[in-house]
Amino acid sequence: MSWLASQTADDKLLQHQLCASGKLPQHVAIIMDGNGRWAEERSMTRTQGHREGINSVRDIVEASSLLGVKYLTLYAFSMENWRRPRMEVTVLMDLLLHYLRSELDELHRNNVRLQAIGKVNALPKNVQKQLFECIETMKNNTGLTLTLALSYSSRWDMVRAVQMASLDVRRGKLSPEDITEERFASYLQTHTMPDPDLLIRTSGEMRISNFLLWELAYSEIYVTDKFWPDFRRNELYEALGDYMKRERRFGKTSQQIIEEESAETGSLKRILNVLRS
Ligand code: FPP
Repeated sequence: MSWLASQTADDKLLQHQLCASGKLPQHVAIIMDGNGRWAEERSMTRTQGHREGINSVRDIVEASSLLGVKYLTLYAFSMENWRRPRMEVTVLMDLLLHYLRSELDELHRNNVRLQAIGKVNALPKNVQKQLFECIETMKNNTGLTLTLALSYSSRWDMVRAVQMASLDVRRGKLSPEDITEERFASYLQTHTMPDPDLLIRTSGEMRISNFLLWELAYSEIYVTDKFWPDFRRNELYEALGDYMKRERRFGKTSQQIIEEESAETGSLKRILNVLRS
């Protein structure tokens, strides 16, 4: 089913109002947290919490795609999550496998491109196989890029980047003085994406939890008390609305930002005048 064809009139209106209120983030990253507590509050099992969490994943992916967000990165399973009870890890891997199998057609039909970051060769073989099949099928899609962080650790990725850069130095392909921030970032698994503009974390925890440590240097952070299974598109719109009201200064002063923006508007006006004349 095409998401656009099934979008409700109310949702279209909400999205339209949001887009008209400012500049959307290009890249949204989310730490999905609170599945267990959501279940506990309802005397349900943690598995039921994770299952409901998948429904949030579906809704957020669909809404982001419809809005025109270019990159959505979801922290689905950290390297540290392998330390959870074996039963829970098995459940999470089964749910991931089920999600990939059941969503492939719908994601592909809606022009989503899938990527994964993390130590994916640590995942069970059947999950890896399904993941690679999905990535391959969707590789030429041009809509939302959905990146799943799986068996992911940002420190691991940075250490890996240092190892690869060092190998290039040893092979004579790189000299240490050429290692700039950009060059270092090119060795990270995230090198194909812009840095996140907005990081959302659910369930009220004020932690980064080893997620995109390098890439989040200048991201805006939004923390909500909602547990992940309760985080649906309206909560996403709230987070985006909050982000769009912020002034991103990247170390500059507020005055400089205002001047830069008015210079940009001025040159846009000049271009429009030239085109009109
Ligand atoms: C955090 O809740 C959530 C996770 C560790 C896993 C997130 C996974 C899903 C939503 C399902 C699979 C994902 C995809 C993309 C198909 P928690 O268990 O840490 O909750 P708690 O802190 O309340 O215990």
